[in-house]
Amino acid sequence: MDILDIIGKKRDKKELTREEIHYFIKHYVDGEIKDYQASALLMAIYLNGMNDLEISYLTDEMKNSGDTLDLSDIPGIKVDKHSTGGVGDKVSLVLGPMVASLGAKLAKMSGRGLGHTGGTLDKLESIPGCRIDLSEEEFKKQVREIGIAIIGQNEELDPADKKLYALRDVTGTVASIPLIASSIMSKKLASGADSILLDVKFGSGAFMKNMKDARKLAVTMVNIGKNLGKDVKAEVTDMDQPLGYAVGNNLEVKEVIDTLHGHGPKDLTELCLNSGSIMLVQAKIFNNENDAKIALKENIQNGKAFEKFVEFISRQGGDKEYLYHPEKFEVASNIIELYSKKAGYVNRIDALTIGESSMKLGGGRETLDDIIDMSAGIVLNKKIGDKVEKGELIATLYTNKDNTEEIEKNVIEAFDIKKTFKPNKFEGILIE
Ligand code: URA
Repeated sequence: MDILDIIGKKRDKKELTREEIHYFIKHYVDGEIKDYQASALLMAIYLNGMNDLEISYLTDEMKNSGDTLDLSDIPGIKVDKHSTGGVGDKVSLVLGPMVASLGAKLAKMSGRGLGHTGGTLDKLESIPGCRIDLSEEEFKKQVREIGIAIIGQNEELDPADKKLYALRDVTGTVASIPLIASSIMSKKLASGADSILLDVKFGSGAFMKNMKDARKLAVTMVNIGKNLGKDVKAEVTDMDQPLGYAVGNNLEVKEVIDTLHGHGPKDLTELCLNSGSIMLVQAKIFNNENDAKIALKENIQNGKAFEKFVEFISRQGGDKEYLYHPEKFEVASNIIELYSKKAGYVNRIDALTIGESSMKLGGGRETLDDIIDMSAGIVLNKKIGDKVEKGELIATLYTNKDNTEEIEKNVIEAFDIKKTFKPNKFEGILIE
């Protein structure tokens, strides 16, 4: 078998066999297939797609590229959640401690920032000392003892996704249903949870630009999981503006802390309560979502969810003083306030532009070797539906870079301000 033949087949819109997909994954992970060859195949998949059988083979081969965790010796139902990625999406860091504070066992493998979207692992690493490279033993011990652990893909667990994820990020091949479905589901299956909740986002800040594609991606992933006997559900939610106000790693962690104290943005808080209540029912801790939601709200009010966050971060080596005193986080040297050029109501905030601008300010990677500036990003001062006066503050940029005029212009233009405002009633759908 030869990688050139495999690339040629997909370029010519032909179906790949299990053996060919196995060959590609095995030899990309062992280094025999080079990045430039893998890039060509990824682009062919991006352009020509894969059928359901090819996607399930790809997922399985990626999962089998490393170890698969067996969590069966940890009592109870182990739950996991994953978002397809968005701008300002810090849900896992809020939701994980919330559900763990009510007895759920969250065993999660996350990813880094991808394209214009941020990643949970980078956000965790913005907390000084916090490790995401737990050994399998440490991971299982932590889930058993405190009910929550989050790790990254590594040489042992889903090494294929570790390499492919980073390569897709710099080759324009992220937004593809087969590649996203196999990336997410291979991680979820390798990390061993019994039930999985997916948040499939669509809109300008998401990889899926419309609801039809998001639904297709959701159905694809739910079916992969079901065929393997897992309880998988997928929410389809919109990402037409960033989630919450903060975009950028340590800025988002500060918003996580506010949210766990009950002072978070409404959209972020509501999404976490909805997803959390579904997960608690999946974990069979509650019989219905209403009761679960009441309990989640209580644990925010009584501080138990925040204390679980502190316990989780401390166990992974993070300095808890930053969580108790968020003012300790490094602040970027250059803080730029942006003001509205007109009066009216915010109708839309182009999340893609905000995500890309945050990346250019230093908050994300443009090439494989870029080092993220944990203090860089954007804090929105207005959200969709808000009234704005001419000259009022709409966004604040945080960066250690100079020459940001182009970025400033783009962020101001990302705000669509009109005389009137008609709310969008979409409330999300659940695929099960
Ligand atoms: N999250 C992942 O883990 N993989 C993707 O491809 C996209 C989002």
